[in-house]
Amino acid sequence: MNFQEEVKQGIPSVLPHAKPYPADANRAPKRKDILSVDEKQLAVRNALRYFPKEWHQELATEFAEELKDFGRIYMYRFKPNYHMKARSISDYPARCEQAAAIMLMVENNLDPAVAQHPEELITYGGNGAVFQNWAQYLLAMKYLSEMESDQTLHLYSGHPMGLFPSSEDAPRVVVTNGMMIPNYSQPDDWEKFNALGVTQYGQMTAGSFMYIGPQGIVHGTTITVMNAFRKVLNKGENPQGKIFLTAGLGGMSGAQPKAGNIANCVTVCAEVNANAATKRHQQGWVDELIDNMDALVTRVKAAQANEEVVSIAYIGNIVDVWESFYEQEIFIHLGSDQTSLHNPWSGGYYPVDISYEESNRLIREEPEVFKEKVQSTLKRHADAVNKHTARGTYFFDYGNAFLLEASRAGGDVMAENGIDFKYPSYVQDILGPMCFDYGFGPFRWVCASGKPEDLDKTDAIAASVLKKIMQESPEEIQQQMQDNITWIEDAKQNKLVVGSQARILYADAQGRMEIAKAFNDAVNTGEIGPIVLGRDHHDVSGTDSPYRETSNIYDGSRFTADMAIHNVIGDSFRGATWVSIHNGGGVGWGEVVNGGFGMLLDGSEASERRLKSMLLFDVNNGIARRSWARNEEANFAIKREMARTPKLKVTLANLVEDDILNNLSL
Ligand SMILES: NC(=O)c1ccc[n+]([C@@H]2O[C@H](COP(=O)([O-])OP(=O)(O)OC[C@H]3O[C@@H](n4cnc5c(N)ncnc54)[C@H](O)[C@@H]3O)[C@@H](O)[C@H]2O)c1
Repeated sequence: MNFQEEVKQGIPSVLPHAKPYPADANRAPKRKDILSVDEKQLAVRNALRYFPKEWHQELATEFAEELKDFGRIYMYRFKPNYHMKARSISDYPARCEQAAAIMLMVENNLDPAVAQHPEELITYGGNGAVFQNWAQYLLAMKYLSEMESDQTLHLYSGHPMGLFPSSEDAPRVVVTNGMMIPNYSQPDDWEKFNALGVTQYGQMTAGSFMYIGPQGIVHGTTITVMNAFRKVLNKGENPQGKIFLTAGLGGMSGAQPKAGNIANCVTVCAEVNANAATKRHQQGWVDELIDNMDALVTRVKAAQANEEVVSIAYIGNIVDVWESFYEQEIFIHLGSDQTSLHNPWSGGYYPVDISYEESNRLIREEPEVFKEKVQSTLKRHADAVNKHTARGTYFFDYGNAFLLEASRAGGDVMAENGIDFKYPSYVQDILGPMCFDYGFGPFRWVCASGKPEDLDKTDAIAASVLKKIMQESPEEIQQQMQDNITWIEDAKQNKLVVGSQARILYADAQGRMEIAKAFNDAVNTGEIGPIVLGRDHHDVSGTDSPYRETSNIYDGSRFTADMAIHNVIGDSFRGATWVSIHNGGGVGWGEVVNGGFGMLLDGSEASERRLKSMLLFDVNNGIARRSWARNEEANFAIKREMARTPKLKVTLANLVEDDILNNLSL
């Protein structure tokens, strides 16, 4: 059977043989054993719904084993035999091109070169699932291959509920992941309901098929580091020889040294896992590897003195670095942290003064002792950071829950009012006011032909559109425009493509719309093949997350999730090819609601109509909300958009004088 036939058959008519687990695969961690005996039976019963009765005896035994061994039922034997990767759009068996585009993106998210645990259908973040099991994958691909352009596939946390009649302008796929009744959104609820096979953690771009490999995070991190330096340096000063100290060289955090190099500074990044550090070094993402503190101190002093641009991985605990640099009087300009503190008790954050191996033993055998050690390390970590900030270091939380967990551990990180943290998050101080509030966010596209030359052409089109827009851009956004032009002009030489021919580019509403229109024109004339547009959910409007994307919302509404819901509903009837809404992603289950879209540009007039309508809303929904929350930059941006778009009429906030409030007796 060839690839197309295999896709079209869905669940095979003959029971496939059980397969050995691939020796070189990066297996997902064993999940918590959380179900009661009755619930385990229910999980197997649920899994068997996908298969004919005559297979039940054999599969029931196998699925019970999977549940025992891995804590989940992945249905390994149903993984297809073909190689998982983004093919050219014309290679997919489909009755409509939009469905073929979605198949391409699904396969990209499961490509072993892209995905973290491909056998378990996990793209990134340890738990970011595309589907819960292989039966769901097979069925979804079959539905997509049969779908016509007036049908919609509804996916409930990976489960294909079915194809429903709709219309040509409706999305072809509607995705929900992890949507829970709010009271059932604690971390253990995910463990339980995922083990039962009724929900999944979609992260942000995993369960929405929009992950494009590491370049997304490199761009975002570069923008953050560059702008953080702009905050702390005097005009005319450059970051060379100035230190950015941080931790983590894992999945996302590994982008930090590469971003530091692009931002022209000295990056020192501590990593306790020698394998992770060595891997990043071998990949060329970090320049130097040092495993002893004296050598690190000497090297860093030299890099400062010579005003170098260099990235250094220190194999060891970040707390030791903060403490030693204080004793050695090494001045740190920027400090942050990207250990996995959204997951502190199972290996996201390693305690100081004990070895990596001993920590892993404690996690398995003495979890309570491990927890105590993590908490005392977090206190020490916070104390060391405080000493540096007293000397003038600028410290920011990098969206990894460092301040939240340090505060829970009793670390000295609270502001005087006892409500806020002492330090801002990167969104509060940097990405929020400098990017999101103006509408700049991680716009992205994939060349569905699979041709690298199409990507080169789209890079050139995007650069020329941005340069033209920049000539008439107001002073307030000149810097952002220039940064994004530099990024796209250098993108090819930064060699960031892994998997599909994809590109990320921060752009505002005008930039996104004009670039998309220029792409659609180029598809129409045959200059390039079809394009899939999308974005990270970590954006202006897509995500409600009180400690990250919406941490710079100060009117009390950051604990609401209306914006993300309006976004996904609004995008869905304005022309998105698929839409998605998720609970959990980055900061944890129950802590964030995030959504996104995908849109195929096929060069048609209908595509042009859709892109204009949907992209305008997709960005301005969030700017309107940010402006209503009294964010000055968003207020500027939405007024500008209203002047450009007469049919846009947004409610604007009136500002009250502090004196009036201060004189109230409350
Ligand atoms: N700011 C953003 O844009 C953004 C984006 C993605 C992820 N994040 C957050 O950043 C965190 C890291 O993500 P990731 O994908 O890199 O996770 P990861 O688990 O792959 O990497 C974290 C690394 O930190 C190391 N580490 C843990 N404790 C340490 C310590 N005390 N000293 C030195 N090293 C230590 C671990 O060994 C691991 O390699 C997550 O919490 C994630 O949610 C933020």
